[in-house]
Amino acid sequence: MATVVDRAFSDPALAALYDSLCAGRPDFGFYLPLVMATASVLDVGCGTGELLRLARAGGHQGRLCGLDPARSMLEQARVRRDIEWVLGDAASMPWHNAFDLVVMTGHAFQVLVDDDELRAALAAIHRALTDCGQFVFETRNPTARAWEHWTPDEAVEIVDANGWKVRMAHAVDTPLEFDGRTVSFTVTYSSPSWEAPRLSHSTLRFLGVEAVAGLLSEAGFAIDDQFGDWNRAPLTRTSPEIITIASRRKASHR
Ligand SMILES: C[S@@+](CC[C@H](N)C(=O)[O-])C[C@H]1O[C@@H](n2cnc3c(N)ncnc32)[C@H](O)[C@@H]1O
Repeated sequence: MATVVDRAFSDPALAALYDSLCAGRPDFGFYLPLVMATASVLDVGCGTGELLRLARAGGHQGRLCGLDPARSMLEQARVRRDIEWVLGDAASMPWHNAFDLVVMTGHAFQVLVDDDELRAALAAIHRALTDCGQFVFETRNPTARAWEHWTPDEAVEIVDANGWKVRMAHAVDTPLEFDGRTVSFTVTYSSPSWEAPRLSHSTLRFLGVEAVAGLLSEAGFAIDDQFGDWNRAPLTRTSPEIITIASRRKASHR
């Protein structure tokens, strides 16, 4: 059965705006050098594929492959034909021993909500990596409570290719309590050029440091390094991000 993705990724009009709405993001300064230094790279939940497109444009000569279950996002990615773009979800990836680096960026890891889904995705990533391969990803640290800033007064506005204003505003569905597991929210996109606003509902998983370590260990990964922000600051209890560099342990070490 095909993975159901949020409207933010499945609606062609919203997918076309994704890169503009996320412009100026700080994470590519961390990920791009890792990609450039590695011969074969898989980006899981690649979305519009901007990271891999930047890598190819920057002279990456090796294998670059992006996977995503949202056709509309991959349509944006496909402006670059010299990269493999694969429709699919993390858990059902087909590769064995194929990539030296797997990344999940833009908090794509947090779309994996259920434990079973997370375990299946980590197993597939483990299989896809070569023996000394690394898996690098980030998840928002629940103790930093990022969702408290997902309010309409922190809306982002851009101007689209036709000169129309587009506004993106977040509202958390249950603003007062965090259930220790997930946060659900609605993003409202509006533009004077549309008949009605476009609404996207999402649920993201918030795993703490110990839970991340437990799942990785269970899946056969060793944590090489962890950071708390995109400047590689040490991970602390209140860091905004849990950024993890993990390597594939050989089966005999599990
Ligand atoms: C917030 S976007 C991040 C996109 C991109 N990695 C970035 O850094 O901009 C999350 C992406 O995860 C994808 N996604 C949703 N469910 C997924 C799954 N089960 N496996 C892999 N990707 C998934 C969505 O389609 C979407 O493109």
